[in-house]
Amino acid sequence: EKPNIILGIETSCDETAAAVVENGTVIRSSVVASQIEIHKRFGGVVPEVASRHHVEQFTVVCEQAIKEANVEWEDIDAIAVTQGPGLIGALLIGVNGAKALAFAHQKPLVPVHHIAGHIYANRLVNEMKFPLLALIVSGGHTELIYMRSHASYEVIGETRDDAAGEAFDKVARTLDLPYPGGPGIDRLASKGEPIIDFPRAWLEPDSYDFSFSGLKSAVINVVHNAKQKGETISKENIAASFQESVMDVLVAKTMKAAKEYHVEQIIVAGGVSANQGLRKRMESACHDAGIPLSIPPLKLCTDNAAMIAAAGSIGYLKGDRADLALNGNPSLAI
Ligand code: KG4
Ligand code: ZN
Repeated sequence: EKPNIILGIETSCDETAAAVVENGTVIRSSVVASQIEIHKRFGGVVPEVASRHHVEQFTVVCEQAIKEANVEWEDIDAIAVTQGPGLIGALLIGVNGAKALAFAHQKPLVPVHHIAGHIYANRLVNEMKFPLLALIVSGGHTELIYMRSHASYEVIGETRDDAAGEAFDKVARTLDLPYPGGPGIDRLASKGEPIIDFPRAWLEPDSYDFSFSGLKSAVINVVHNAKQKGETISKENIAASFQESVMDVLVAKTMKAAKEYHVEQIIVAGGVSANQGLRKRMESACHDAGIPLSIPPLKLCTDNAAMIAAAGSIGYLKGDRADLALNGNPSLAI
């Protein structure tokens, strides 16, 4: 594999991020300017507000990433940028900024799919062993992806409605927890008991698809009914029961697919892979099945640019190139 140094850029949602990664495996720097505090007061990401903050942060974050990596522009082989999916206004700041940098410094521009980024976050900590199965669980995605080799993606299952992280965020909001709701539910769940029997959407017996909107509505109904009747509820037990419902389905379908496809490794990626309950359940299921598991450390689970540079390194070696006509694509397919 040809040695390479990639500058990665990520602006698809509410983090402005830039990172320098060597050979797709070694983080030289990773800078993330999070807008969580700004969006918290609105209870979710406000797209136009996100775009404006990306504009303010873009140059600062890129310069800091290069400085912290201790590299010169001439050392950088290519610029990798998230092309999609994501918020179009947010994506455009990263894409246009990356195009400007590529033009100014005469560097190849490599377009990266955001989900490929989440998957390749794993390569920054573990060797990838093919064929593998990746469970992607984030605020916008719930997907099971089979990979025969690098950069080969076969989606074998996906959500038919809400993404797992979206369900966490909406349930959190009913429990008056701040945005993003995942960490708050995770904390409450660790103190509660899963005694409420919420629905699990198994769908057709042979399907690897997911559905979380029925579960989400069931939880919201329980909370609203209790509020209306003036009954006190245990937020801890609700969080634990909701989380258990989500995890039962995620873990069972992932393990079934892993066995059917005879994979050498299971990867979990995306913001929800920060969930302590999911990490524990996947660890024990993979241990029992004798399949190696890779989950990135927490700071590489949520959006960052090191993962984009890691995926970009593979794209760069494969010859993926974009010209200055590159556009953001909010619904880019993997
Ligand atoms: O990957 P990510 O940072 O952004 C997207 O690409 O969507 O994922 C964000 C999602 C949010 O829905 C957030 O609530 C969820 O990841 N999340 C968690 C946890 N930490 C973040 N969900 C469950 N448990 C957590 N500990
Ligand atoms: Zn993400």
